Amino acid sequence: MTKVTPESISQMKGRKHIAALTAYDYPTAKLLSEAGIDIILVGDSLGMVVLGYPDTTSVTMADMEHHTRAAARAMPQSLLAADLPSGSYDTPETAVANANRLIAAGAEAVKAEGGLAIAEQIKAIRTAGIPFLGHIGMLPQTIHKEKRYRIKGRSLEEKQALIADAQFLADVGAFAVVLELVDPPLAAEITKRIPIPTIGIGSGKDCDGQILVFNDLVGTFPWFRPRFVKPHLEAFALMREAITAWRASI
Ligand code: KIV
Repeated sequence: MTKVTPESISQMKGRKHIAALTAYDYPTAKLLSEAGIDIILVGDSLGMVVLGYPDTTSVTMADMEHHTRAAARAMPQSLLAADLPSGSYDTPETAVANANRLIAAGAEAVKAEGGLAIAEQIKAIRTAGIPFLGHIGMLPQTIHKEKRYRIKGRSLEEKQALIADAQFLADVGAFAVVLELVDPPLAAEITKRIPIPTIGIGSGKDCDGQILVFNDLVGTFPWFRPRFVKPHLEAFALMREAITAWRASI
């Protein structure tokens, strides 16, 4: 596999389905790279599936830098992107400063949640020459305001806003956009309308690619599993069996 870049991701639209997974450490990043995953995201989901917080809002820049450095040590062939955590991109200045910190930690692109609502921050990141991955739809960093994770884009108002956000992200030079819990027919329509790839999570099959939290895919976080996830392994149960067998053998 040749090194994946933001440009090569953009060029996959209409040619190849993009496969993206999260990783927060060296061995997982190495595994995903060897398995030919196109994008590795050091997601702020790390707050839930690694750090034990109830949601992503407590994740700090220091957490993100620490885990980005660990994943970057794997020197993946996959593109390595990292999330700007909640509160780290409230102004254009902090957005650029913190995006640069993630790049210094080894990320090759950054992601932040929102479209037109954070237009000035995204423009500043792009002006600084930092590759940007968009993220619209259900935004986990707004969970306290939203109260629950829900499908976005069913009402006409939400539908129009999401189309405008997606178009803005394409115009501002994002290399792709994550659509989280977007009503599947709308996700399909956005995918047709915009020139950059859409990467869906809980948004139906008609996106240009799919992203999942690695721990959901392999079953290492059984305590909270989004309804749309079909695990391909029950690693937690298998590890518990192995530990129990070892316990009995000593
Ligand atoms: O933090 C995360 O894991 C994400 C998802 C889109 C996978 O942002």
